[in-house]
Amino acid sequence: MLNFINKKFAKVKASRKLRKLIKVFRKYFGEKDPGNINFHFGSKPSRMQIVQEIINIKKFDSYLEIGTFNDELFSFIKCKKKIGIDPFSGGTHRMTSDEYFKKFKDKFDLIFIDGLHHYNQVEKDIYNSLKILNDNGILLMHDCLPQSLSAQAIPRTETVWNGDVWKAFVKMRTDPNLDCYTCCADHGIGVIFKRNNKNLLNVKINNFKKLKFIDFYNNHKKLMNIIDFDNLLKII
Ligand SMILES: C[S@@+](CC[C@H](N)C(=O)[O-])C[C@H]1O[C@@H](n2cnc3c(N)ncnc32)[C@H](O)[C@@H]1O
Repeated sequence: MLNFINKKFAKVKASRKLRKLIKVFRKYFGEKDPGNINFHFGSKPSRMQIVQEIINIKKFDSYLEIGTFNDELFSFIKCKKKIGIDPFSGGTHRMTSDEYFKKFKDKFDLIFIDGLHHYNQVEKDIYNSLKILNDNGILLMHDCLPQSLSAQAIPRTETVWNGDVWKAFVKMRTDPNLDCYTCCADHGIGVIFKRNNKNLLNVKINNFKKLKFIDFYNNHKKLMNIIDFDNLLKII
């Protein structure tokens, strides 16, 4: 039943009543809630600080942001070439990421993925971004560390919502040619380098989309390869 509801409403922005209904259904028919994880983001650097510091240290010239919303991050970033895409607001290009990748082939030093937070779209955004990321470039992904079951559940019912971005990131952790870390800051910043994976995740998972929050709750340190910002700066 829950699957049916999730599929039916995955693409629509749920009204308040509908969100309540979905929450009730989740409570009784969905995954058991193991409780919240406190990542203590409040005391950690913001995505603005992290992205800008990486650009400065690496002397990067080009920046692409997928999903710009109200330009909170996009307008903060100083970089020679800046492109931001969003079908609704902010940035420089009014289109979806799929439309952008079909039309443009420019290469970038740093790409920040923060568009539609659904597994299938995030996976597509990652693979398309890797094609246009310079070899010494860095791919960042927002919202990799959800603190609760509902923060990562689809369809969206919460104001603070990360979607199931984390599942797509776990898939990348199993690729021997991608070196992946999650910086413990600002809802979790996934970091992907095009180089040998220094801490390959050795797990047998057929369908990453079917991972459960309980898997994340119990194993997030191992699955996400979590590091703090100071240690990230040592390996970029
Ligand atoms: C969380 S907000 C981005 C916040 C922004 N990156 C920041 O850090 O301030 C997500 C944005 O993704 C956009 N979005 C949704 N679907 C998208 C898609 N298919 N391609 C690109 N952007 C998308 C939404 O319109 C929304 O503005």
